[in-house]
Amino acid sequence: MKILVTGGAGFIGSAVVRMAVARGHAVINLDALTYAACLYNVASVAASPLYAFEHADIRDRAALERIFDAHQPDAVMHLAAESHVDRSIDGPADFIGTNINGTFNLLEAARKYWSGKGRPEHFRFHHISTDEVYGSLPADPAVKFTEDTRYDPRSPYSASKAAADHLVRAWHETYGLPVVLTNCSNNYGPYHFPEKLIPLMIIKALAGETLPIYGDGSNVRDWLYVEDHAEALLTVLQHGATGRSYNIGGNSERTNLELVQALCAVLDDLRPSTQPYAGLIRFVEDRPGHDKRYAIDASRIGDELGWSPSVPLEEGLRLTVKWYLANEAWWRPLIGRKGTGSRLGRGA
Ligand SMILES: NC(=O)c1ccc[n+]([C@@H]2O[C@H](COP(=O)([O-])OP(=O)(O)OC[C@H]3O[C@@H](n4cnc5c(N)ncnc54)[C@H](O)[C@@H]3O)[C@@H](O)[C@H]2O)c1
Repeated sequence: MKILVTGGAGFIGSAVVRMAVARGHAVINLDALTYAACLYNVASVAASPLYAFEHADIRDRAALERIFDAHQPDAVMHLAAESHVDRSIDGPADFIGTNINGTFNLLEAARKYWSGKGRPEHFRFHHISTDEVYGSLPADPAVKFTEDTRYDPRSPYSASKAAADHLVRAWHETYGLPVVLTNCSNNYGPYHFPEKLIPLMIIKALAGETLPIYGDGSNVRDWLYVEDHAEALLTVLQHGATGRSYNIGGNSERTNLELVQALCAVLDDLRPSTQPYAGLIRFVEDRPGHDKRYAIDASRIGDELGWSPSVPLEEGLRLTVKWYLANEAWWRPLIGRKGTGSRLGRGA
């Protein structure tokens, strides 16, 4: 299959690119190379005859039309987005521009290309989204997000992703574009940009800096190892039913405090310091509108497509810490890029 991957120089997109090429798919990686991108993430496949790179912005319709014409893909996997909630609080405009208008452009360019080819049924537009579109859950562990949960986004980031999800569904209902959608929980793993919680905590701990946890640390997230997400995405692309949504999750709920304590325990083991790293934890002013709990019911993708997460959280955290210990040359130059590493998202 020839797949046009948007955002393939980012964290999850690059995992998809590496896995797709390893499985023999041809991949065109379309990325604007924003502050969050790193082409080194795909260096392992860059020389493959199956790989091509297009430096383009999804807000540029003419560029998208040229790329569809030039490469004639069988499918699109749309991951390009502004992805950091804290940045969406400080500057929502980029999130509206890329996540909503960019998705609209991509849908229109895909529709023109697909119509021009006689509307082939096997074409796929796979929109990659987040569980954050569903809002915040109560503490009751029996309550989880299903594909039928009402949308209730509460940050500029999640609202922009929700808007994009609605556009994708509308392009299916109105124009018949063969789409699939996925909504995934929090990812972690290698190549995670150091503004996000897990890499930020690892890097701060290694520097002996305090580990800032928002609020009282009781917010719950459901963590998924990024390779498991990439596997789920390729499964949905190839076997998902047209027009259908699939929730993807790790079945690994932890409070932020539990998560950072678990990371500290791994660091104590792999890179012992004079004191346990957990002594660096400090509670700081909360993020405005901080969603209390996310948890995914991933039974649809399990029952219908046979996918389930394969990497338990403790193992994944260990793999991740090992990767950051071995790849300082990757993350060190990213610190400070567009304020990375400093406190963002306090609101007005
Ligand atoms: N990270 C998570 O935990 C998570 C969970 C669920 C869903 N998602 C979704 O998965 C996708 C990828 O997330 P990520 O964490 O890898 O993000 P990321 O920020 O690491 O990467 C985003 C990539 O998109 C590119 N990009 C941004 N704006 C662009 C534009 N206008 N045109 C072209 N390229 C552009 C960036 O250069 C970057 O390479 C996003 O759509 C996100 O909403 C992320």
